[in-house]
Amino acid sequence: MVEDNGSIRTLSVDIGGSGVKALVLDVTGQPVTERGRLETPQPAKPDTVINAIAVLAANQGEFHRVSVGFPGVVRHGVTETAVNLDRDWIGFDFQTALANKLNKPVRVINDADMQGLGAIAGKGVELVITLGTGFGSALFVDGKLVPNMEMGHHKFRKGDTYEEQLGRAALEKIGDKKWNRRLQKAIASLEHLFNYDCLYIGGGEAVRVNLQLPLNVKLIPNITGLLGGIALWRD
Ligand code: BGC
Repeated sequence: MVEDNGSIRTLSVDIGGSGVKALVLDVTGQPVTERGRLETPQPAKPDTVINAIAVLAANQGEFHRVSVGFPGVVRHGVTETAVNLDRDWIGFDFQTALANKLNKPVRVINDADMQGLGAIAGKGVELVITLGTGFGSALFVDGKLVPNMEMGHHKFRKGDTYEEQLGRAALEKIGDKKWNRRLQKAIASLEHLFNYDCLYIGGGEAVRVNLQLPLNVKLIPNITGLLGGIALWRD
């Protein structure tokens, strides 16, 4: 049982196409454990991913509630898409299944949305993109999230989507230099579309960004995906 709010610990989980990551946050959102990571099971079906989370959770010590960033559309805890995981996630009540497995309250949102919650300043129009297996996106106006913005699967150029042009498969195929040139074009296009005050670029491959970025574009570390977990419990 939790005696006072100050001692509430949140297990924050980030499910990616290549790794499942977890750490525990204190009530202020500061990490209190070392980040654990497991390879995303293949095939990445609900039961195998839930088991991986349970293994990570068992190594993270005490926690009272769980936040999860999921790489697909999530509505009321139900996963509606999972392009880089498995079709079995479509229509799956993930939030309930994980709560039953861990015996703790669980909240699940889109991974880019969670990353954004860990990054934004809360003022003006803030856009977040994540570069990893997939291409994630999140939009905030004065700190308020527009949930499940799936820009990754929208057309970007040459008939390809943002994810097809800038996801990990493309990066591995075309190499850093060409990928960075494409990213520069994407930034220019997004700037004109959203007229954002700030664009944040995160995700596992953000470390490979090698561009002179405008002042209103910031690179954020991948751990931000986990730090956003605390915001899911601010009602
Ligand atoms: C999914 C998004 C997700 C992104 C990054 C895309 O394929 O459709 O929901 O945010 O990958 O994981």
